[in-house]
This record gives sequence, C-alpha cells and structure tokens, in this order.
Amino acid sequence: MKVVGINGSPRKDWNSGTALDFALKGAGDAGAETKRFDLFDLSYSGCISCFSCKLLGGKSFARCAVQDDLTNVLEEILSSDAVIISAPIYYSDVPGAVRNLYERLLFPPNLYSAEGKTGYDRRIKVGLIYTMGAPDPSFNNNCAENDKNAFELFIGDTEILNITDTYQFTDYSKYASSMFDPELKAARKRDVFPTECQKAYEMGQRLSK
Ligand SMILES: Cc1cc2nc3c(=O)[nH]c(=O)nc-3n(C[C@H](O)[C@H](O)[C@H](O)COP(=O)(O)O)c2cc1C
Repeated sequence: MKVVGINGSPRKDWNSGTALDFALKGAGDAGAETKRFDLFDLSYSGCISCFSCKLLGGKSFARCAVQDDLTNVLEEILSSDAVIISAPIYYSDVPGAVRNLYERLLFPPNLYSAEGKTGYDRRIKVGLIYTMGAPDPSFNNNCAENDKNAFELFIGDTEILNITDTYQFTDYSKYASSMFDPELKAARKRDVFPTECQKAYEMGQRLSK
C-alpha cells in the first residue's frame, strides 16, 4: 500500500502542510508507505494542449507527455494506491500550482470516449483536504465538490475534508487584519484546528485500508 501526499501550499508547515502530515501519519500508522511532495519546490507547467495523450498509437497515449518536475510526481501518483492532496483556497479555488497538477493528472485519462472509457486502468483512492480562511466552504462555492466529481470520473473514490476559518499569520497585531478578531482566531487554532487534524489523520487511515 503506497500513499502519496501532495502539499499545494507555498507554506510547508502551516495549515495545509500540517493537515497533510497528520493524514500521512494516519496512513503510515495503518501500515502504508508514504511520500510527500511540496509542489512549490518544483518547476512545471500546466497542460500545454499538445494532445499527445489522445494520439491513437502514440507513446504518451493516456499519459502526460510534458517532461518537467511534475513528471515524477505524476508517476508516483499513478503507481500509488491513494493520493492525498492538501491545499489552501485562493480566490475560491485551489492555487494555480495545484490546478496545473489537476490538468496534467485528469486530462490524459479523459479519452473523450462516447462509451465513457477512461485511460487509467486502475482506480486510486483520493483525499482532498482544502484549508480556507472563510468560515464555511459555501463562501468558496463548495469548490471541493467540483474537483471531487472530476477525480471520481478519472481517478477513484474521493473524500473531502474542508478545514475552515484557518489561522493566517503568527501575530495578528502585526498585519492588516481588522476584519478578524485575533482572540477568536487564536481560540479556533487552539480548539478546532487540532480536531480537523485528527479528521485528516483518520482520512489517512481510511484511505490506507
Ligand atoms: C492569495 C490568497 C487568496 C486567498 N483567497 C481565499 C479565498 O478565496 N477564500 C478563503 O476562504 N480563503 C482564502 N485565503 C486564505 C487561505 O485559503 C487560508 O489562510 C489557508 O488556510 C492558507 O493555507 P496555508 O496555511 O496552508 O498556507 C487566501 C489566501 C491567500 C494568500
């Protein structure tokens, strides 16, 4: 059992990275081999619309032909049993770095098939952990639901963990942030975030079964 974790935040050990580590710990404790990738360490593009992944008889059929730092990450995901992607929400969506990954993971198996045939021959379980400043995912149009639909079509069964009202800076008094109550934010970080991390841990355990 191999579980690949993807951190889609430029911050390695803040909300998304911390929740991801809990999920990978849960997977590891359930007996899985785990690997973590930090997307912001890598240099890569999104889909370049070359259509090599749809060229009948082509050597990259149903695979992304672009060769860059994401190539190895895609290979690791496609040889895994489960992938857990943890990302912040930027403007009601995942950051561009994560969207670029989605394009290159989800488009190659989309064979534009009238019969609903897809290009990956095995299913991989998926966990999406989205962390956001808003108090409820509906403020961000429940964006994880759209991604879940795409992952379930082309990758595998997908579960979502939305982590809301996250702590954004180390010291609220030093940053422009008058719309937030620093005490409420600190209380949320102290009392609620650990319970969300526990849910991430349990997600990791579930996906490893
Ligand atoms: C550029 C930028 C845009 C953001 N846009 C949103 C947003 O649209 N909705 C939201 O709920 N939070 C938004 N946030 C807050 C982050 O999603 C939130 O703080 C997240 O937990 C940060 O993750 P991290 O701690 O792993 O970096 C934004 C933050 C940044 C830096």
